Amino acid sequence: MIQEAQKRVAKSLNHPIFHTIRDISEELNKPAFVIGGFVRDLYLNRPSKDIDVVVLGSGIELAERVAKKLGGLRLTVFKNFGTAMLRYRDLEVEFVGARKESYQRNSRKPIVEDGTLEDDQNRRDFTINALALSLCEENYGELVDPFDGISDMENGVIRTPLEPGITFSDDPLRMMRAIRFATQLNFRIEEGTFDGIKSQNERIDIVSSERIADELNKIVMAERPSIGFKLLELTGLLQIIFPEFQAMKGVDKVDGRAHKDNFYHTLEVLDRIVPNTDNLWLRWSAILHDIAKPRTKRYDKKLGWTFHNHNFIGQKMIPKIFGRMKLPLNEKMKYVQKMVGLHMRPIVLSEDVVSDSAVRRLLFEAGDDIDDLMTLCEADITSKNEAKVKKYMRNFKVVRRKLKEIEEKDHVRNFQPPVTGEMIMDTFALQPCKEIGDLKAIIKEAILEGEISNNYDEAFELMLKKGEEMGLKRAK
Ligand code: CTP
Repeated sequence: MIQEAQKRVAKSLNHPIFHTIRDISEELNKPAFVIGGFVRDLYLNRPSKDIDVVVLGSGIELAERVAKKLGGLRLTVFKNFGTAMLRYRDLEVEFVGARKESYQRNSRKPIVEDGTLEDDQNRRDFTINALALSLCEENYGELVDPFDGISDMENGVIRTPLEPGITFSDDPLRMMRAIRFATQLNFRIEEGTFDGIKSQNERIDIVSSERIADELNKIVMAERPSIGFKLLELTGLLQIIFPEFQAMKGVDKVDGRAHKDNFYHTLEVLDRIVPNTDNLWLRWSAILHDIAKPRTKRYDKKLGWTFHNHNFIGQKMIPKIFGRMKLPLNEKMKYVQKMVGLHMRPIVLSEDVVSDSAVRRLLFEAGDDIDDLMTLCEADITSKNEAKVKKYMRNFKVVRRKLKEIEEKDHVRNFQPPVTGEMIMDTFALQPCKEIGDLKAIIKEAILEGEISNNYDEAFELMLKKGEEMGLKRAK
């Protein structure tokens, strides 16, 4: 791996941006290094466009000179943080002076730029994020790796460079970052680092919900998000940041009958949906689909464990969860609510003889999100019984086919009433009144039930008939 990686490093450092930085840093006599995520990703062969450059001097000064040399590039300067950022072709390059204090991109504390490279590396989050490549003339491309981050990378280990207590109290978000990297890279968290998270987990409270949500979303978007959620649970972080999810863990047993562990079931659903969607919100729907199960759980002597209405109650729980976690409260949340509310419907449909009207109703309610809903429901079948899974999948195929047939015939997916309120008002010479809404509802119901087809003529005829029954007089 190392040889291949070294080739990549050499190739990457051939880029004109690095040559320019080298030349200017020589002129200023201030050594500069590429550091952090970009170097890590080069070794791991994950393409990255974000470059961090650290200089033993002023980051802003170096950036200004580089920007000028490259033809007067626009520079964004953050005076307080002592950083400056420029874009060059498709790269985003951030310059910062080496520092003794902890490195945090979002820290509000002004920084002191008087560190050595080693000081700077000491205050970074993980050994694999503390690697630096020299941009100095005499040892261009040489790796500076004081904590043997390369070995950790080869062995797949997340470890803090200093004693975990120090690294995590510098920025408690790093506890989440450790878990996020472990999930994205499929690495394990070294024992001391893991214990460090466990013993400091409550300090996550001082971190803003927005930063926590960013990390959580990165876990959700990983290839196997379950790794991250299991680690969050084991470290005690889950209970603090997402108690509703924690509450799903565990099984109850009455009369020798146990229900399934909904925490692990949910994680299975989440992992199963990953290959079928890049939509963050569909993945959140998978996380939340059974969120009300702990709240609705009852034991019934005849029926066993029941979770009545957990879909509707789950749907209602979502605004509070999203609000607290600083997830969006807009149409994205509404979409997740809709998915959670409807997630039982295709299963019910697939168990029964599928009636056209039930399919029409589902199409009407799910609208354009019907395919996502089916994807969620298919992921939700986690039974160990293969025959059962096969049966469900077969039935879902029937449901999908029916959905297609009925949509082609009746067009209820984006239902537009064939007779509008204005037409009703014109026909019966009405001012706005309750009867208009009643008639519209009658027409919609008749279409969904299949009593009339979804077209103007049949709808208009029904409107006349029902209007007359209601005592309305035709105006023309
Ligand atoms: N860093 C840190 N502590 C933090 C955040 C960042 O020590 N809380 C350091 C690490 O050395 C990290 C570098 O700053 O590699 C850049 O941080 P950032 O851009 O947030 O993350 P990356 O490591 O580049 O990873 P990703 O782009 O996947 O977020």
